[in-house]
Amino acid sequence: MIRSVVRGFGAALPKRVMTNKEMESKVDTSDEWIVQRTGIRQRYIAGEGETTATLGEGAARAALERAGLTADDLDLIIVATSTPDNTFPATAVNIQNRLGMRHGAAFDLQAVCSGFVYAVATADAYIRGGLAKRALVIGSETFSRILDWSDRTTCVLFGDGAGALILEAREGEGTNSDRGVLTAQLRSDGIHGDKLYVDGGPSTTGTVGHLRMEGREVFKHAVGMITDVIEAAFDATGTRADDVDWLVPHQANRRIIDGSAKKLGIPLEKVVVTVDIHGNTSAASIPLALNTAAGDGRIKKGDLVMLEAMGGGFTWGSVLIRW
Ligand code: ACO
Repeated sequence: MIRSVVRGFGAALPKRVMTNKEMESKVDTSDEWIVQRTGIRQRYIAGEGETTATLGEGAARAALERAGLTADDLDLIIVATSTPDNTFPATAVNIQNRLGMRHGAAFDLQAVCSGFVYAVATADAYIRGGLAKRALVIGSETFSRILDWSDRTTCVLFGDGAGALILEAREGEGTNSDRGVLTAQLRSDGIHGDKLYVDGGPSTTGTVGHLRMEGREVFKHAVGMITDVIEAAFDATGTRADDVDWLVPHQANRRIIDGSAKKLGIPLEKVVVTVDIHGNTSAASIPLALNTAAGDGRIKKGDLVMLEAMGGGFTWGSVLIRW
């Protein structure tokens, strides 16, 4: 049985850090309010010349270098993003060009904060279906460019950055001991579209628009949706919370992360948290967290790693990987 096995990972962040203290000079907020409600202490903000494509390229190069590969060794690039450089062509094709890759296929995928989980699931399906052998999966965002910087209820929450994973086809036994993606569980329900959205777009306003969110409504649904898809992953594989070595959640909010881990019975020592330093980077948050925890040696080869996310749409999903 073909498995999609992790071959490399990498990340890239903008140069500029914006602390909560600096945020206090922009909107009527406080470090104390932001930390207490969200766990966020700082975020990275893209500057001139830094875009979703340049950050994604940086993450891609770091992942290729770690894997000992070049762009010639890839045959698929998927970029999860809601903040593309242009409406088209896809940021993935832009990054393909920046990497000097003249073969294979590249496309963007949009599932907001669940984008990376959706992209890993898609790459896994391509690999298992024989359409690709080695896929570069990137989550890259510049949410700072769609924030309403006068709205304190949203602008304090988000940041910019990119992370990448390289998945490659390898033969497995078809058991949970195999390395690679063991299951992916994806969900969406458009009835929640007005709770977290951007108030513009090419076909409606002809503008990019700004992010709008009913925070309390999102919060109300988050823990239930996240735990449902994780339990679905347990059911699909016959695994349990005790088997998980690392939970790597989408980094939206410390309270959502802690609430989900508690409901699942996963101890906080097994949860990777980077929301304090990155803020919510939407589709980039999981690969940034993976890069942090695999880079510092916490996540090791053979570990069972659960990814989960929930975001605009709503979309939500989980991926269980033997690292
Ligand atoms: N600084 C200071 N005060 C603020 C700020 C701020 N940045 N933002 C809102 N407030 C005020 C409000 O005006 C309100 O004041 P009032 O009581 O005088 O009216 C008070 O704080 C409480 O506001 P709430 O919206 O009720 O605050 P809540 O405790 O719900 O926290 C938050 C808001 C952090 C957004 C929370 O609802 C949340 O975490 N929601 C989840 C949404 C999320 O994380 N979304 C990320 C994208 S979705 C995803 O990635 C899953």
